[in-house]
Amino acid sequence: MTQRRLLRPQEILPLVGLPDRARTLTQRRLDRCASVWDVRRMALRRAPRAVFDYVDGAAMSETSLRRSREAFRRVEFTPRVLRDVADVDTSIETLGGRNALPFLLAPTGFTRMLHTDGETAVARVAAEKGIAYGLSTLGTTSIEELAAASPDTRRWFQLYVNRDRARPEDLMHRAGAHGYDTLILTVDTAVGGIRRREVRNGLTIPPQLTVGTLAEMALHPRWWFDVLTTEPLSFASLSTTGGTVGDLLTRVFDPGITGEDVAWIREHWSGRVMIKGIQSLEDARIAADLGVDALVLSNHGGRQVDMGNAPLELLPEVAAAVGDRVEVYLDGGIMSGTDVVAAVALGARGVLVGRAYLYGLMAGGEDGVRRVLDILEKEVRTTMQLIGARTVDEVRQAEVRLRPTLR
Ligand SMILES: Cc1cc2nc3c(=O)[nH]c(=O)nc-3n(C[C@H](O)[C@H](O)[C@H](O)COP(=O)(O)O)c2cc1C
Repeated sequence: MTQRRLLRPQEILPLVGLPDRARTLTQRRLDRCASVWDVRRMALRRAPRAVFDYVDGAAMSETSLRRSREAFRRVEFTPRVLRDVADVDTSIETLGGRNALPFLLAPTGFTRMLHTDGETAVARVAAEKGIAYGLSTLGTTSIEELAAASPDTRRWFQLYVNRDRARPEDLMHRAGAHGYDTLILTVDTAVGGIRRREVRNGLTIPPQLTVGTLAEMALHPRWWFDVLTTEPLSFASLSTTGGTVGDLLTRVFDPGITGEDVAWIREHWSGRVMIKGIQSLEDARIAADLGVDALVLSNHGGRQVDMGNAPLELLPEVAAAVGDRVEVYLDGGIMSGTDVVAAVALGARGVLVGRAYLYGLMAGGEDGVRRVLDILEKEVRTTMQLIGARTVDEVRQAEVRLRPTLR
């Protein structure tokens, strides 16, 4: 027979989970997020709908984004066991520097709209983690401000080429002078993609105060308080505004750029060059022939062409064809550390993550970015240990395949 008795108060007390008063409410909510998807849900509650949709959305039917994400569900590892995986080294060599993890932070535009901490917060967390961060031409923090705010971050600069070449030339010189070591030339943006959520939400740059937005204020007072009490939102490297981001891309940037412009870039930029937005084997070969240092298989997170292919599915043949001449990276659809490991196992030197850290920024500013990177880091490390890989080089030798179907 079970002997029953009531617990004494001093026996009950240790069982009560009291909130850690040293952590803010936001930090405690972030602590309870178990995945990047959970952080995304928190971002949905915290940010105005139009802002969330600017990040979360993609072009037209959003099929390119869906495909990019679904491709990761086809990954199948054959794990190896009975290996000593007590110590795991997650670092990679990338464009002449060490990156503590096999992923880095993709350039994203209009970042301060998501949270007033913006790019400087992202850069600070990148430095803590020992990974690189790409500042966008459409950034809301200038080249100089970011360098001053986070001198220890390995900084890359992403270039969109204006019709007026004096502007990109100036940006390249300033980025070079302020310690940015790699130029990311984005080439999938001949014109802006058609992002329907932005049209439906009436999201313009800068955001307009309308009756709708005033109603939104009541639902998201913290976001509006930040916007109305900090530096006005504007592009740091662009004087043109108005319309959606897609409209802006079409109006300001040059649809006429070709491979020949790489030679022009070399005249103004002495660092490494990475071409971002390659979506076919043929273009990967052309990029390698141009002598760039790296390419990113990317469909811009599905924000440009709709019905495009999934970078992950293209990766093995591209890595096999040009991987000995140019560093091959991948982005699009990465929402977990397992996705990162899978991309590396299938041939990527490393990956770029975009939305994942932006969800963190919307959910909790700098703390949110930190939480996302903590989650990704833990998932990378754990996946490596569970497939029996002690180093990223061993991940490259791991047995992995893409199953023919999603099951
Ligand atoms: C809100 C947002 C803004 C972006 N802005 C830029 C940009 O200014 N320049 C650029 O080259 N890519 C930009 N991208 C694309 C990212 O660099 C990256 O290719 C993409 O986010 C990867 O897919 P993922 O978001 O699924 O990780 C942007 C992506 C998002 C989500």
